[in-house]
Amino acid sequence: MTYPHVRMRRLRKNTMIRDLIRETKLTVNDFVYPMFIKEGISKSEPIDSMPGQHRHTPKDALKEIQILVSLGVPAVILFGIPQKKDPFGSAAYQSNGVVQQAVREIRAVYGDRIIVMTDVCLCQYTDHGHCGVAEGGSIINDQTLRFLTKTALSHAEAGADIVAPSAMMDGQVQAIRCGLDEAGYFDVAIMAYSAKHASCFYGPFRDAAYSKPSFGDRRSYQMDYANPFEALREVELDIKEGADIVMVKPALAYLDLIHQVKLTFKMPTAAYNVSGEYSMIKAAAKMGWLDEKSAALEVLTAIKRAGADIILTYFTKEAAEWLRS
Ligand code: PBG
Repeated sequence: MTYPHVRMRRLRKNTMIRDLIRETKLTVNDFVYPMFIKEGISKSEPIDSMPGQHRHTPKDALKEIQILVSLGVPAVILFGIPQKKDPFGSAAYQSNGVVQQAVREIRAVYGDRIIVMTDVCLCQYTDHGHCGVAEGGSIINDQTLRFLTKTALSHAEAGADIVAPSAMMDGQVQAIRCGLDEAGYFDVAIMAYSAKHASCFYGPFRDAAYSKPSFGDRRSYQMDYANPFEALREVELDIKEGADIVMVKPALAYLDLIHQVKLTFKMPTAAYNVSGEYSMIKAAAKMGWLDEKSAALEVLTAIKRAGADIILTYFTKEAAEWLRS
């Protein structure tokens, strides 16, 4: 009788040994919590397509931040839902816009106790729902850059630490970096949605933000998910344009890209565990088909294992609590 000399099971014997040798450790420091701030409502509204998430009033957002700070969550990213949309998305870059107001209030109350990131895009603000200015059915790149830069500047003025351009316009990182520097905001960082794919997994978010395009789709600016080399070029370009953090989005069906981006560029790398990825787990859990906590922690650990330093996730609050206990 021969015995296996190497027995992998020796180090799986109990929880303590398993904890000791665990290679990937998820912590609350990994998370960024995405929040919707809606103009013109008097109390927060639950989002049907994203159970557990809300459209917040700027006031309620502050209460939410209190909870996040007490859980030790390091950062939020804010998405605005304006009362009025127009062809140029002008509510995105007004100094008293809903995001700008929320940033100011969070800053006033919480100072540096939480990192405030803002999404820089026009799709929640344009009446046609596209991420840029539209003309004859197409989205005009360079004209959009001006508005994205104005938006980022208005967020920086309000006190944002990090602006996150997500419109997938060519040159958006460079345009925003130049705009910020010219205005003296040298220390405001850019988290670029570098490899943002045209994905069905944004569906619940678009319900939440009423930002479904009214014509066509986003495939003339968001990436084709079948193109991993193109994704690397997108990331490389954003780094050259001055991005401080690069992002792959979505996360779960894109673990290979997260891994490649981290290994290739060694940059601070974020992954966005998007609305559809969240709501899928919520729905399956509601049906009794999956255990929510186990599924969410498995997915989040896998995203970190793939190479993400930063995970934007709607599970932030729950995961922070699960990891605590
Ligand atoms: C804005 C933006 C979107 C998401 C993040 N920023 C929507 C989109 O591109 O349609 C999606 C996030 C999610 O699904 O959770 N451009």
